[in-house]
Amino acid sequence: MYNQPMLKDDSLKGKTIVVTGGGTGLGRAMGTYFLKLGANLVITSRKLEVLQKTADEMAAETGAKVLAVQCDVRDYEQVENMLQKSIEKFGKVDGLLNNAAGNFISPTERLSANAFSSIIDIVLKGTVNCTLAFGKHWISQKQAANVLNIVTTYAFTGSAYVVPSACAKGGVLALTRSLAVEWGKYGIRTNAIAPGPFPTKGAWDRLLPGDLAEKFDFKNRVPLKRVGDNQELANLAAFLISDFSSYINGEVITIDGGEWLQGAGQMNGLEAIPTEMWDMLEQMTRSAKGS
Ligand code: HXC
Ligand code: NAP
Repeated sequence: MYNQPMLKDDSLKGKTIVVTGGGTGLGRAMGTYFLKLGANLVITSRKLEVLQKTADEMAAETGAKVLAVQCDVRDYEQVENMLQKSIEKFGKVDGLLNNAAGNFISPTERLSANAFSSIIDIVLKGTVNCTLAFGKHWISQKQAANVLNIVTTYAFTGSAYVVPSACAKGGVLALTRSLAVEWGKYGIRTNAIAPGPFPTKGAWDRLLPGDLAEKFDFKNRVPLKRVGDNQELANLAAFLISDFSSYINGEVITIDGGEWLQGAGQMNGLEAIPTEMWDMLEQMTRSAKGS
């Protein structure tokens, strides 16, 4: 594993970036790296106490400025208010990282209509609310800007047992590709990252409760035989939110050690065949030539 910080110092200097769900997990990790690269950072979510603690710790670690703003992304007025507070503090906003999400595992037929909606509302509607409010602002100000959405690999494959999340993330992917074209003329780039397994408390408590974490060990699903390191994701996010990726627009970049492809290839299950068996199998397949 190579988890050194990637970009040169001050790569994000002068940029203000808003990270939704920035108080915990991957949002926190990406935000911390943006700060180290010289950005001004706004972190936002529902729990102000969590945000404030994270903001204080981030500022202590990096010496940079962090603003914590309470905002439920499901509520458009709160999103507009969060944008205003960010502008009041830093003068302008250059980047939006739509990272906030909700998820849990369940057979779909066990879900209430409200359970389904609760995930769609956070992930799809929340991303739409933030993107719309920020986009309107940037277009009216004639300001070039950057939207980065965190999806998942099952945004394009679908997945059983997380169907509301799969529907919502699929919608976010459609939003990414649509706006990349429509808002490109305003200098607004829109991209997405599809992470594979990066252990966080938020995701693991809801996707792998109890001993599922051992029984369903994600690293066994990954060709590289390990889960992701937060800095690997932070490097990619910083690149995509920076001007170094200025000609990348409408792209979704997968960072999963090859996980989803391993599940997709029809014969990939042959990985389970022990090396010593291949001589025998070769003989058998060669002898099938004349049949
Ligand atoms: C069935 C459930 C349920 C469960 C909640 N509900 N949990 N139904 N199984 N395990 C139902 C409730 O009964 C209710 O429906 C409805 O869902 C809303 O629940 P609330 O608790 O009122 O919702 P809310 O307070 O808004 O909380 C949202 C939440 C919660 C998603 C349920 O877990 C949350 O706050 N999550 C935020 C963080 C998070 O999820 N992080 C993980 C992201 S990981 P009724 O009908 O009873 O009213 C991720 C990974 C992707 O996305 C891929 C990884 C490899
Ligand atoms: P996490 O720590 O649980 O992060 C989710 C964040 O979303 C929390 O900070 C939460 O804060 C915030 N949030 C939830 N509902 C919100 C709302 N209504 N308004 C505003 N904020 C809200 O989990 P994570 O693993 O870091 O996930 C981060 C992102 O990565 C998500 O988009 C997830 O789908 C994606 N992802 C993760 C993995 C992985 O392996 N971890 C894999 C693929 C994709 P509050 O509770 O304070 O609101």
